[in-house]
Formats: sequence, structure tokens, C-alpha cells
Amino acid sequence: MAALVMVLNGPNLNLLGTREPEVYGAATLDDIAAALVNQGKALEIEVDLRQSNHEGHLIDWLHEAGGRGALAVILNAGAYTHTSIALRDAIKAIAVPVIEVHLSNPAAREQFRHRSHVSPVAAGVIQGFGAHGYALALDAAARMRQSDR
Ligand code: DQA
Repeated sequence: MAALVMVLNGPNLNLLGTREPEVYGAATLDDIAAALVNQGKALEIEVDLRQSNHEGHLIDWLHEAGGRGALAVILNAGAYTHTSIALRDAIKAIAVPVIEVHLSNPAAREQFRHRSHVSPVAAGVIQGFGAHGYALALDAAARMRQSDR
């Protein structure tokens, strides 16, 4: 059975491609999803990519990933990264490793983006590599499998 990796995307990431392309690049979330599904096939990983503008949906999906015994969650929580203690608590509540991803490098941007509530409870963080960061995260998830260590 293929391992499951859930790729959860938070607010405004549905607008990728048209949203501040000079910051976030030209790829749409559909482009990213298609590339990840392809990459996942080669790695024998089922990729389930979702996006929501609602904090509670992201929390419900983290719980679902826990319930389904996912190999990993790749999480770009968007601006909730910087505000949501509820998301941090949800990550702590599940046994699934969470890989935090950002297209931009928040550490090189405004002060209010420097704090992440996700990073202290994440397995690792990939930021600043644009859409390619998702591919790096899926590769990291694949290497978490016993057989790939
Ligand atoms: C982001 C960075 C966040 O600061 C911002 O609020 C986003 C996107 C990124 O992928 O670079 O919505 O998570």
C-alpha cells in the first residue's frame, strides 16, 4: 500500500500564480499539485493536496492525517503560520511529522513574518525556494520511511 502524504495549504494560496508573483512565483496550486502527484508516483506515495482559507479546515485535516496514519504532512499554513496557536496545538496532538513549507523566505521579509508558531513543533522547515520547496519536502517525507533512511 502506498504511503500517504497530505499537503495542506492555508489562506490565499488558492491565488498562487496571480498573487504577488514577484514574491510567490508563477506556478499555480494546480501546477504544484500535478507535479507532486507525479513525483509521488515515482516514490510510491499517495499525495493528497488541499487548500482552505479557513483555519478550522486545516485543523480538521491535520486530525485526519493523524487518524489515517499519514507518513507526513507538508504544511504551508500561509499567514496562520504567524498567528495560530490552534494550528500548533493540532500539530502537537498528532503523531505525524509535519514539514513546514513556505514559497518565500519569511525570515527575510517583514518582522511580523519572523515568528512561526509551526516551526517549534515541525519536523523541519523548507522556505525560500518557491514552488520547488514542495518537491524538496516530498523528498524529505519519502526519506522518513524506514526503508529510505
Ligand atoms: C507564505 C509566507 C507567509 O508569510 C504568507 O502569509 C503566505 C505565504 C509563503 O509560502 O511564503 O501566505 O506562507
